[in-house]
Amino acid sequence: MANNPSSMPLLAASGLCKSFGGIQAVSNAEIKVQQGSITGLIGPNGAGKTTLFNLLSNFICPDKGKVIFDGEPIQQLKSHKIAQQGLVRTFQVARALSRLSVLENMLLAAQKQTGEKFWAVQFQPHIVVKEEKELREKAMFILESVGLAHKAQDYAGSLSGGQRKLLEIGRALMTDPKLILLDEPAAGVNPTLIREICDRIVAWNKDGMTFLIIEHNMDVIMSLCDRVWVLAEGHNLAMGSPEEIQTNSQVLEAYLGT
Ligand SMILES: Nc1ncnc2c1ncn2[C@@H]1O[C@H](COP(=O)(O)OP(=O)(O)OP(=O)(O)O)[C@@H](O)[C@H]1O
Ligand SMILES: [Mg+2]
Repeated sequence: MANNPSSMPLLAASGLCKSFGGIQAVSNAEIKVQQGSITGLIGPNGAGKTTLFNLLSNFICPDKGKVIFDGEPIQQLKSHKIAQQGLVRTFQVARALSRLSVLENMLLAAQKQTGEKFWAVQFQPHIVVKEEKELREKAMFILESVGLAHKAQDYAGSLSGGQRKLLEIGRALMTDPKLILLDEPAAGVNPTLIREICDRIVAWNKDGMTFLIIEHNMDVIMSLCDRVWVLAEGHNLAMGSPEEIQTNSQVLEAYLGT
């Protein structure tokens, strides 16, 4: 790990701003994610949560602001470089390629494949074959852990909404990340599968994976998260333990409408 003493957050963003025309989607926002934590990000519809994810992962460029990941500034890096450094994100609407198999979707997510390099294929076919085999084994291992191994050869398009979310997480895990940003992993997922997704997140977290999770399902946030950040109208509204957030009057007013 690069230059990341335990006191330093794994991810620290500050002063992030993004406007779309007249709409200030994110305004001077801050967020910190501690190594080994499951951190929550909540807020009403349109609060700027997904935009904040897009800024953290540089899917869109911030107008202003700084993002430090694992001790390094990353706001100037392209999003694929950020992913290579270990910060990956999933999307609010799962992005699996429907006409590829579940296994092919997993293999596509993997980085640094020698097989993609022309000269390596010409001169080192044995290495390419070995890498492909290892990658398939890794993909099947991860598919086991997300409960999709039995679907490996099926088209991704045949998966349910919940299974697509699990495939998204599986694809993220293929890149050996340090931090996974999950955008609404429980949205549109049936309650049984939500429980399963939560159990798996807890297990991966115990194995050392750090998560930042956007979610409207408060049971999920309250049961998983160590810390919760609240955004409203692009601004930081509050931050604290799930208990503190649940009883914060400003949050109740802005978010729960009470
Ligand atoms: N590409 C874009 N172009 C124009 N406006 C955008 C764009 N992306 C987001 N916005 C606007 O920015 C604001 C914040 O949107 P964002 O999607 O980040 O909210 P959110 O907190 O993720 O909401 P939800 O909980 O509904 O997913 C909204 O007003 C939205 O309409
Ligand atoms: Mg969103």
